[in-house]
Amino acid sequence: MEPLKILVAASEAVPFAKSGGLADVVGALPKALRALGHDVRVIIPRYYVVDREKYGLKRLDGALGVGMGIMGEIWCAVYEGVIPGSDVPVYFIEHEGYFGRKGFYDEEGMSYTDNDNRFVFFSKAVMQLAKKLRFHPDVIHTNDWHTAAIPVLLNTTYAFDPDFENTGSLLTIHNLQHQGKFYKGVMDVLGVGWDHFTAHELEEYDGVNLLKGGIVHADAINAVSQKYADEICTSEYGWGLERLIGEKRYKLHGILNGIDYDEWSPAEDIYIAQRYDTDSLEGKELCKNDLQREVGLPERNDVPLIGFVGRLVEQKGIEMIAHAIWRLMSWDIQIVMLGTGEKWAEHYFSDIAAKYPDKFRCIIGYRNDLAHKIEAGSDLFLMPSLFEPCGLNQIYSLRYGTLPVVRATGGLDDTIENYHNDGRNGTGFKFYDATSDALLGTLAWAVDVWYNDKKGLEALRQNGMRQRFSWEVAAKEYESLYRRIVEGRLCSRY
Ligand code: ADP
Ligand code: GLC
Repeated sequence: MEPLKILVAASEAVPFAKSGGLADVVGALPKALRALGHDVRVIIPRYYVVDREKYGLKRLDGALGVGMGIMGEIWCAVYEGVIPGSDVPVYFIEHEGYFGRKGFYDEEGMSYTDNDNRFVFFSKAVMQLAKKLRFHPDVIHTNDWHTAAIPVLLNTTYAFDPDFENTGSLLTIHNLQHQGKFYKGVMDVLGVGWDHFTAHELEEYDGVNLLKGGIVHADAINAVSQKYADEICTSEYGWGLERLIGEKRYKLHGILNGIDYDEWSPAEDIYIAQRYDTDSLEGKELCKNDLQREVGLPERNDVPLIGFVGRLVEQKGIEMIAHAIWRLMSWDIQIVMLGTGEKWAEHYFSDIAAKYPDKFRCIIGYRNDLAHKIEAGSDLFLMPSLFEPCGLNQIYSLRYGTLPVVRATGGLDDTIENYHNDGRNGTGFKFYDATSDALLGTLAWAVDVWYNDKKGLEALRQNGMRQRFSWEVAAKEYESLYRRIVEGRLCSRY
C-alpha cells in the first residue's frame, strides 16, 4: 500500500518541550510511523526552552504570514530539525511575543490570558506552513484543544483550497478536562465566520470551546485508551461534552499509547544504580538502596517502598492520598513522592515529610533522573487517579518489576490486571471507588502480599516485566485509522 503523508500538530514533543505525557506521545509515535514507511512531519511551537543550538535547528528562508482576522496578518519564523535518533522532520513556529515565555500555557499557576490567540495563531501557522512546504498531507493529526481549531479551519477557510483537497483530520483526546474555553471575541480572530458560532459547533454558554469545534469537525476522533473512549461518553468523565461525544461515537476510537522501551527499561536505563532484568532481579535491591540514599530515607530492605511520580493535581487523586497519608504513616512502610503542581499539595506533603523523615520523602520538582530511580527502586507504585486517559508511569512500573496500585479508570484499567492469588495471575492491584478508604484497603492488600506472599510477589513482577505496550502496535492502529479517514473522504466526495 502507498505510504501516507501525515502531519502531526501538537503543543509539545519530547525531547524539545514537555510538561506531561502528551509530549512523550508526540515524540514517539511519529518515529514508529516513520518505521512503517510513512512520510510524517511534526509541528510544535518554539518555546523559550527549546534550545536552537543544542538541537541544531536551521531557520527556513523567509517569514511565514498568518492571517489573524481582525488583528491582521502576523508574521513568524520557522525552524527545522529532526526528532533525535530519527529522520522525522520537526518544524518549530517561532513568535517571540506568543511563545518566547517561561511557560507553555501558564506561569505560577496562572494561565496566560492570550492562550486563545496563541493557539489559534499556532493552528493557522500549521496550515500556512504546510502550504509553504508544498506538503499535501493525507491526514493532519491534531492533539487536544491547542490544535483542535485545525479541523475547523480545514472544513471552512481551507475547504476549497486545492492544497488540502485530499486532506482529512484526526483529533486525539489526551485529556478532556482542558477544552480551550474562551471569550467569544476569538471568533473574529479565527475568522471562520459567526455562522459557526452555534451550539452545534464552536459555541458553549456564549463562549468559544475550541475542543468542541474540533470534535465536531474532525473526520475521526480518538482517545488514548479504549476505556477512556467509553468513559468520555458518560457524565462522570465527559466534562459536559458527553452528549456531543456520544453523538459522534460512530467516529470515536480508542488507541492505547505505547511507551519508549529504549528509555524506560531496567536492562538499559542510564540513570539507575544497577541494571537488571527478569533473570537478575537482585539488581533491583541495589536500586532501592540507592534511591533511599538519594532521597534520605533509612536504607532498609525489610520494608516496602512505595513510589509516586506525577503532576500534583486533582486528576491524579492527590486528595485521596492527602486523606490516607496519616493512616499510612502508622504502617511499617516507606513512601517517596516526586511532583509539582498545586501549591497546597506541595506544602501539605512537604510538611508531612518533615514530620516523618524516616517514612516519607517528598521531592517538589521536575526530575527525569529521579523519576527513573523511583521506577527502579520502589516496590509498589501508586496511581490513584480520578481519571486517567492512558497514563504512562504504571506501564513503566510494569517493566521495572514495580507493582502498580491503581484506581481502575481509563488506561489504568486497560493496562493493569488485578492479582489473583489462586493462579498467581495478574500484574498489579486495582481499586474502584474514588475514596481514601478504598485506596488504603488496596494498599494494605499490596503491602500484605509484599510481606507475606513472596511467591505471589515474584509472579507479579515476572508477569509485569514480560508485558509489552510497544509503539509499533499503536502506530499500526493509527495507520489503519488514517487509512479509514482517507477512504472516508474519498467516498464522501463521490
Ligand atoms: P500526564 O500526562 O497526565 O501528566 P502521564 O502518566 O501520561 O500523565 O505522563 C506523565 C509523564 O511525565 C511521565 O513520563 C512522567 O514520568 C513524567 N513526569 C511527571 N511529573 C514528573 C516529575 N515531577 N519529574 C519527572 N518526570 C515527571
Ligand atoms: C494526558 C493524560 C495521560 C496520558 C497522556 C498522553 O496528559 O492525562 O493519561 O497518558 O495525555 O496521552
